[in-house]
Amino acid sequence: SSELLVNVSLYYESLCGGCRYFLVRDLFPTWLMVMEILNVTLVPYGNAQERNVSGTWEFTCQHGELECQLNKVEACLLDQLENSAAFLTIVCLEQLDDMEKHLKPCLELYAPEVSPDSIMDCATGARGTQLMHANAQLTDALQPPHQYVPWILVNGKPLKDPSQLLSLVCQLYQGEEKPDVCSSMAITPREVCYK
Ligand SMILES: *[C@@H]1O[C@H](CO)[C@@H](O)[C@H](O)[C@H]1NC(C)=O
Ligand SMILES: *[C@@H]1O[C@H](CO)[C@@H](O)[C@H](O)[C@H]1NC(C)=O
Ligand SMILES: *[C@@H]1O[C@H](CO)[C@@H](O)[C@H](O)[C@H]1NC(C)=O
Repeated sequence: SSELLVNVSLYYESLCGGCRYFLVRDLFPTWLMVMEILNVTLVPYGNAQERNVSGTWEFTCQHGELECQLNKVEACLLDQLENSAAFLTIVCLEQLDDMEKHLKPCLELYAPEVSPDSIMDCATGARGTQLMHANAQLTDALQPPHQYVPWILVNGKPLKDPSQLLSLVCQLYQGEEKPDVCSSMAITPREVCYK
């Protein structure tokens, strides 16, 4: 049942290399294998900062203005698309260069009913600002505070070794039946093979 789902939250920023790597190489394959026991939450904002400039929130991002724009694009995808479509579209963008150019083809794959214009209108308008402010508040409220990004929480606790995500999720799931992949996990992390 749904209250047993393992919560995985990712606090990240759109242009951080380690964030992209975790999202595409760790979180996405884990989600493909055990999506039925996962509740994934993405919070694009990361190490950005916000300021109240005469009543409007303005953002400064670690990797520049483009990152701020793309954070908003992703926040708008999370706002306007159904859960898994938003996740898949963001993974699609994050694995490619020139994310702005790829918004259209990624949406065509995973949410063909949503127009890139509606996402861009959100991202460049008041809604995008509002969503980013909400993500700023979520990020700034983290306890313990995030030290770096990607900052990954599994059932509320920071995950320090991202490569352990799948095995930890399997271990934490309290349901009667674990997904098959959990019992058939034959890979022992970090074990070398001597000749
Ligand atoms: C999934 O995570 C969101 C955000 O953290 C939370 O609000 C929601 O209650 C969670 N859903 C389940 C079924 O745990
Ligand atoms: C996941 O998060 C939701 C909302 O915060 C919470 O109600 C639920 O108990 C959490 N699930 C687990 C397994 O901790
Ligand atoms: C933002 O600044 C405006 C005017 O400069 C002020 O009226 C408003 O209360 C501020 N809002 C917050 C949340 O600090």
